Amino acid sequence: MNKSIVKKRILTGDRPTGRLHLGHYVGSLRNRVRLQDEYECFFIIADLHTLTTRPGRTEELKENIKQLVLDYLSVGIDPKKATIYVQSQIPEAAELAVIFGNLTTVPRLERVPTLKDVMRDSHIQIPSFGLLGYPVLQAADILMVRANLVPVGRDQASHIEVTREIAREFNKLYGVHIGKSTPGVNELHTGSVSGGDGQVFPIPEALIPEDIGTLPGTDGKAKMSKSVGNVINLSDDSETVKKQVMGMYTDPKRVHGDEPGNVENNPVFIYLDAFSQSEKSKSKVKELKDRYKNGTVKDVEVKEFLVQVLEEFLQPLRGRREEYEKQPELVEKILKEGTESAREEAKKTLSLVRAAMKIEYF
Ligand code: TRP
Repeated sequence: MNKSIVKKRILTGDRPTGRLHLGHYVGSLRNRVRLQDEYECFFIIADLHTLTTRPGRTEELKENIKQLVLDYLSVGIDPKKATIYVQSQIPEAAELAVIFGNLTTVPRLERVPTLKDVMRDSHIQIPSFGLLGYPVLQAADILMVRANLVPVGRDQASHIEVTREIAREFNKLYGVHIGKSTPGVNELHTGSVSGGDGQVFPIPEALIPEDIGTLPGTDGKAKMSKSVGNVINLSDDSETVKKQVMGMYTDPKRVHGDEPGNVENNPVFIYLDAFSQSEKSKSKVKELKDRYKNGTVKDVEVKEFLVQVLEEFLQPLRGRREEYEKQPELVEKILKEGTESAREEAKKTLSLVRAAMKIEYF
């Protein structure tokens, strides 16, 4: 690739709270695998963000981080193309969050809709300073690498909006102090969406997938969720997958296999549509849908086919996961090197920030 063409930069990531499931794959992971060829990708493992709801469970983080990296690698995220790193090992991000905390207001953060959702789901009556500041820390993650695009689910859009406001406010307050004469600024990656000269931060954009709805849970609820137990994890073995699928909800109104059934909003068919890859599978799905609508197929036959489709999808993931599981030092190296290179970016950003703010004294 021509070196003068700067690839746009992407940042996204996850909190290490447990295994990733099929819903994560459909909603974000498969998109990341595509994006890593076209963009310079950073994938953050946001362990500090877990403190906002579970500050007392830090002993789980190490294992969760390892499993998250394995989930990433298993779906085909390629450490040669993308930078995978751990948030807490980059102190510059925390420093940036302190600065950014002064560029937004308490009522603004109280209006972020995810705050109420998280408080309800985690049974929190009064938010901590850290929970209220969740979007501020996320803004620090994003702007720390001066990302242009942030692929996230719709639920995160409000956080990216806060990030944009903070970036604009920073540029407005301090941007004029920085220009062509500031050492290093022109070599830095600010991407084409940045405000150009005099702007420290590009204004990042959320990249929200439009075509796909959320994958429902195996119980037909709107979303897969670990706490509900309606998930199929990317790391589940064949037996577990089979058990989950055979217990899945279908059309609740259909009692017998010889009654016409509903294919839309039927989780079994939604999964079949999402995971059938070969032409052969796809035409089989079409046939099953027709027979389902006519009342000439039993649920169990459709489910058995779904087991087959999911196995076909999961088999290569399991293969890659096993390969990496056999080499824990390699997994650690990937994470360590990713974190080192993200930290290099963080240091560059922080020196830009300090120069712009005129807070470099020694
Ligand atoms: N808040 C995100 C989530 O819960 C995780 C996250 C932390 C993130 N920092 C980020 C996502 C920066 C995108 C960009 O899913």
